Amino acid sequence: MNIKDSIDITVIGLGFVGLTAALGFAEKGYSVKAYDSDIYKTRELSKGELPFHEPGLSTMLNKHLNENLVLCDSLEESLSDAKLIFICVGTPYLEGAGLDLSMLLNVVKDICRFSSKDAYPSIIVKSTIPPGTMRTKIKPVVEDCGLRVGQNIGLAYNPEFLREGNAWDDFMHPDRIIIGELDRVTSDSLVKLYESFTVPYAQVSAETAEMLKFSSNALLATMISFANEQALIAEHIGQVNIPELFRLLHMDKRWSGSPAGMINYVYPGCGFGGYCLPKDTLALKNAANQHGVEAKVLNAVMEVNLDISEHTVRKVIRSLKHRDEQIGILGLAFKPGSDDVRYSPAVGIIEALLDEGCTNLSAYDPMAMRNFEEHYGYPLKMANSLDEIVAGSDICVIVTAWPEFQVLTDHASDIRIIDARYMLENKEASVLVN
Ligand SMILES: NC(=O)c1ccc[n+]([C@@H]2O[C@H](COP(=O)([O-])OP(=O)(O)OC[C@H]3O[C@@H](n4cnc5c(N)ncnc54)[C@H](O)[C@@H]3O)[C@@H](O)[C@H]2O)c1
Repeated sequence: MNIKDSIDITVIGLGFVGLTAALGFAEKGYSVKAYDSDIYKTRELSKGELPFHEPGLSTMLNKHLNENLVLCDSLEESLSDAKLIFICVGTPYLEGAGLDLSMLLNVVKDICRFSSKDAYPSIIVKSTIPPGTMRTKIKPVVEDCGLRVGQNIGLAYNPEFLREGNAWDDFMHPDRIIIGELDRVTSDSLVKLYESFTVPYAQVSAETAEMLKFSSNALLATMISFANEQALIAEHIGQVNIPELFRLLHMDKRWSGSPAGMINYVYPGCGFGGYCLPKDTLALKNAANQHGVEAKVLNAVMEVNLDISEHTVRKVIRSLKHRDEQIGILGLAFKPGSDDVRYSPAVGIIEALLDEGCTNLSAYDPMAMRNFEEHYGYPLKMANSLDEIVAGSDICVIVTAWPEFQVLTDHASDIRIIDARYMLENKEASVLVN
């Protein structure tokens, strides 16, 4: 039997996301049942008319309506034979209360009511939800209905990244498919379902998938506010040609490529340092102040940089058995490939550890040890090699993502390592400049 014949899909909620997904799966040859509680919307759709403007969807609706796509008048009808049930209802923001999950939770409850314990249907949420929702809110609702996730019902979070105005193309040609997994059966069924999209996919924890959707939008929002704050400062300074400023900013070759070099900067660590980023960010913040603009984005950028350094120190302190333990600082340069130690994150971390009474500190850096000794007079024992520092330390903290530290993956079980650059579990991270 063709795999497509064995996967019956139901889509609930036929807005931008749901209708696009329903038509997308229909276009891929799956048999799709769809339901929306808004009878006016369903009525229009059943006449082949779109209730909203979205390029490309009208043609697809008229191609698949009553063929691969069947519109249902009730939720119960849409669920008959359903194997994969996609929920795409709205999750609007409620002032002061976060996202309103009531529509989503009600649909989940209703699906469980109509589901047979023998059928093993899978509920897949596409609506955007806060991290933790699948495990702490949706799973309990399902289990309260007497169903057991992984035994007679499946759950997964499958975030949608489409953009309105480009929904069809984004859905049919996504950058990647993310499967937030709660049970293997559902997760593997989704891998099969999306096989024909021939794009990379990742099976991750539900929380990773939920967080990814938020991180993605928060990054975009931050970049927009950043650009707007820059324009605000520039306007107050005067004589700055703002469109030209941004045109020239975009010519930085780190924006181009696939993936673009700019990803180097969108990776966590223990803070930025070096001669330029801290100094120039502070200088622009001051220039903005002098021109009567409070640079809120830049203030926050500097604050977070301090917070992340303190966070790293707290992690080290928490994992010490006592303050006399030998702490190895791995990396003194502000970034790998450089011997520059000006404003290096290592400086703040070493100072804070000394303030905390940790006096047994040693350090190793492939290039920057001499510079560090010349610039700062900290009581640090410099090691001659990575092996030496690892052998002589109770705990090691990776402060600079030097690629040669990657070998520590093999030591991970022998020594305590605080990987403040998140490089050991991500080989690609060791080439990131940040
Ligand atoms: N619009 C986007 O660009 C976009 C992109 C990615 C993710 N998302 C997320 O996807 C979700 C849906 O977004 P949208 O823009 O498609 O929303 P939408 O408001 O356009 O559509 C939601 C649909 O769900 C229906 N609905 C509500 N309760 C229902 C119920 N009990 N049974 C059946 N249908 C019901 C509504 O009638 C409506 O047609 C949201 O969580 C949103 O944040 C949206």
